[in-house]
Amino acid sequence: MRIDILTLFPDSMRAVLGESILGRAAARGILDIRCRQIRDYTENRQKQVDDYPYGGGWGQVMMAQPLKSCLDDVMRDASGLRSRVIYLSPQGQPFTQAKARQLQADYDHLVLVCGHYEGVDERFIEACVDEELSLGDFVLTGGEIAAMAVADCVCRMVPGVLADEACYTGESHWDGLLEYPQYTRPETWEGRAVPEVLRGGNHAEIAEWRRRQSLARTMDKRPDLFEKLELDADDRRRVEAIRRDRARRRLTSPLTYRPAAEADLPDILEIVRQAKDGLRRNRVDQWQGNYPTADLFRADIAAGACYVLEYEGETAGVFVLTNDPEPEYDAITDGRWRSAPPYCVLHRSAIRADFRGTGAADALIRAVEELTARRGGTAVRVDTHRKNKSMRALLLRHGYRFCGNVLVESEPGHDPRRQCFEKILHP
Ligand SMILES: C[S@@+](CC[C@H](N)C(=O)[O-])C[C@H]1O[C@@H](n2cnc3c(N)ncnc32)[C@H](O)[C@@H]1O
Repeated sequence: MRIDILTLFPDSMRAVLGESILGRAAARGILDIRCRQIRDYTENRQKQVDDYPYGGGWGQVMMAQPLKSCLDDVMRDASGLRSRVIYLSPQGQPFTQAKARQLQADYDHLVLVCGHYEGVDERFIEACVDEELSLGDFVLTGGEIAAMAVADCVCRMVPGVLADEACYTGESHWDGLLEYPQYTRPETWEGRAVPEVLRGGNHAEIAEWRRRQSLARTMDKRPDLFEKLELDADDRRRVEAIRRDRARRRLTSPLTYRPAAEADLPDILEIVRQAKDGLRRNRVDQWQGNYPTADLFRADIAAGACYVLEYEGETAGVFVLTNDPEPEYDAITDGRWRSAPPYCVLHRSAIRADFRGTGAADALIRAVEELTARRGGTAVRVDTHRKNKSMRALLLRHGYRFCGNVLVESEPGHDPRRQCFEKILHP
């Protein structure tokens, strides 16, 4: 594949395209990428490539003559090649993987024209350009980044550039799907383990898991792409299984709760990890430090204060309920507690990600109130971050009242402000 790029910045482009995989492929003679300086083809002494727009207005427009002379020079030794002249433009058709495949299959010579300033004289486009391609619905300063994207994407599909065809045929957008998630060493990183199936070495199971993941993440991340897919019988079966799996989360039997045991700790920590991820994604500065630690849960378990919610043998949530007054709550500002001892305090509650939206959080609150009453408590107190919208909504939905603000010390370096809620339980 030969690619000529017409640009005002050939050195920068050579530097980028001469690196890494494309650079090595060029060195082996598989690719021939040439960056041409448009300015070298001007016919004026100032080497001016642009001029004022007819009709007035801001900026400069690239003149047709230097572009045409540059193109003519490029074409002089391109006879016999299947050439395509492409102008990179925000007005072009969006560039896609399918387009790249077509360019790679149908042509062995691409000429990529990079505009600058306000663009190029329309007459050059009319006379010389076969096709306009856009990197997306936004405007760049020049066509260079778009040209590099096109060159990179097309070239990596040229036979011999990558080690194997499978390197690109298995990737996102090749067959309309997004790629499955990828992992590398170490096996566990910051408490996150690589999925079991990938460690098992069963190739058929791995292939099946990956295909399902591809389908599931295309459904979730790009429903527009998913709608366009023409699924074969196997993929239809997989999609049905994914939907069934998700529908299963419309709970058909009640959630139960029980005191947690040491053996529940891995499940509890996984639920906490998911909760931290969710809070981070929602930009809530709560649980973003070390809190709550495994040791804290160990102590809760030993004290009989930690509970797990269960659904058909699976751990669906965790919470800690203590009878001890919370010293930090004494310094409440902007309001006051209305409840009096004996009360219970709810701490460290979270629902497993795939149980969110199933009513599990409501079951957790009901369990908290039931336990409080059983312990002789007359109220539940709890705090949460002011941006923790789902917790706030849950509490308000269950009749908890906002009663003031406190500062917590559990997460040094993070936002210590918390809103306090309480519910007085009536017998
Ligand atoms: C500032 S732009 C000119 C935009 C032009 N005045 C318009 O509104 O359509 C300068 C050059 O950047 C390149 N360019 C800008 N946005 C692009 C995009 N989304 N895709 C491809 N090339 C782009 C084109 O080569 C263009 O000639």
